[in-house]
Amino acid sequence: MLALCLILAALTLHLDLVRAHTVITYPLWRGNNLVTNGTRPEYDMSATGENYVDGQRTFPYGQQWMYPCGGMPMSTNRSLWPVSGGALAIQPGWFTGHKTAMFYVNIGINGPGEVAPPNMSHPVVPPFQITGPTNSEYPGASFCLPQVPLVPNLTFNIGDNVTIQVIETAQHGAAIYNCADVTLADPADVPEVNASNCFNSSDLSFQLIYATANLSSGALPTAIASSRVSLTLPMLIMMLVFVLW
Ligand SMILES: *[C@@H]1O[C@H](CO)[C@@H](O)[C@H](O)[C@H]1NC(C)=O
Ligand SMILES: *[C@@H]1O[C@H](CO)[C@@H](O)[C@H](O)[C@H]1NC(C)=O
Ligand SMILES: *[C@@H]1O[C@H](CO)[C@@H](O)[C@H](O)[C@H]1NC(C)=O
Ligand SMILES: *[C@@H]1O[C@H](CO)[C@@H](O)[C@H](O)[C@H]1NC(C)=O
Ligand SMILES: *[C@@H]1O[C@H](CO)[C@@H](O)[C@H](O)[C@H]1NC(C)=O
Ligand SMILES: *[C@@H]1O[C@H](CO)[C@@H](O)[C@H](O)[C@H]1NC(C)=O
Ligand SMILES: *[C@@H]1O[C@H](CO)[C@@H](O)[C@H](O)[C@H]1NC(C)=O
Ligand SMILES: *[C@@H]1O[C@H](CO)[C@@H](O)[C@H](O)[C@H]1NC(C)=O
Repeated sequence: MLALCLILAALTLHLDLVRAHTVITYPLWRGNNLVTNGTRPEYDMSATGENYVDGQRTFPYGQQWMYPCGGMPMSTNRSLWPVSGGALAIQPGWFTGHKTAMFYVNIGINGPGEVAPPNMSHPVVPPFQITGPTNSEYPGASFCLPQVPLVPNLTFNIGDNVTIQVIETAQHGAAIYNCADVTLADPADVPEVNASNCFNSSDLSFQLIYATANLSSGALPTAIASSRVSLTLPMLIMMLVFVLW
């Protein structure tokens, strides 16, 4: 893949510091990781992402900052998700500071005999940006991607276990993590989502992200038309999908 620069279109700059947190509402997440505990980092020179106090884990910066799944171990209570791909519903605004945020969705795949995926390195949707109603918290807001595909060119079978990883990057670039563990199933065996568990609330909007080889190439359509950037086919498809989205 070419070294491409990402530009955020219509990116609004906000100077506030950010502490973004997410809840995955469909499929069900590993569990509640909206936790910040332990000694506050400003009073603990040894504070790292995860500290132990009397043998107990603490998260002085917040548990969701931990890669790859927000400090949560693999769950044993998986839900079913269609083998052809399915819905993903997220509440992005559980804490203050994410008037805008970037989202990435990846999956990890358990290989034969593996109890957890070796990595979460398979992106399944192009990155996108959301704009929220306010820089304060807005926990009620929700968005849903009704048909997140699995990885192209890989074969998935009913019964395979995969983990859906959702990453939200804050305005300052730091990333928070959340995961949902699913077993792939015949779509007929998975209740269809509906307007009560898969919807976009009106107070969220989506921003286009586009790619170009040269920051001075101008807007995306011009850049394509003038052939000043060379783009790989997957990148073009990705952009097309995104435009149609
Ligand atoms: C598994 O259990 C945890 C803890 O009760 C819960 O928060 C989570 O939503 C459950 N996940 C599924 C897929 O049922
Ligand atoms: C901090 O939160 C984590 C996650 O909820 C919990 O497992 C741990 O027991 C808590 N630590 C303390 C010292 O309360
Ligand atoms: C990530 O896991 C996949 C299997 O899901 C494996 O094929 C791939 O080599 C791994 N990538 C890295 C960078 O380890
Ligand atoms: C899928 O495989 C085809 C044929 O090998 C290849 O042309 C295409 O680039 C692959 N797609 C992706 C997204 O890797
Ligand atoms: C998938 O996970 C479930 C529950 O954790 C387990 O019982 C099952 O054996 C796993 N399937 C595979 C193919 O490993
Ligand atoms: C939507 O689907 C959920 C889960 O399958 C179900 O419990 C609920 O009754 C459905 N709601 C409507 C309005 O159909
Ligand atoms: C929510 O908005 C996204 C981005 O426009 C779109 O892809 C998705 O289909 C919408 N979800 C629903 C349930 O309409
Ligand atoms: C980017 O644009 C500048 C100014 O138009 C030009 O000098 C430079 O060669 C371009 N670089 C690439 C990689 O196209």
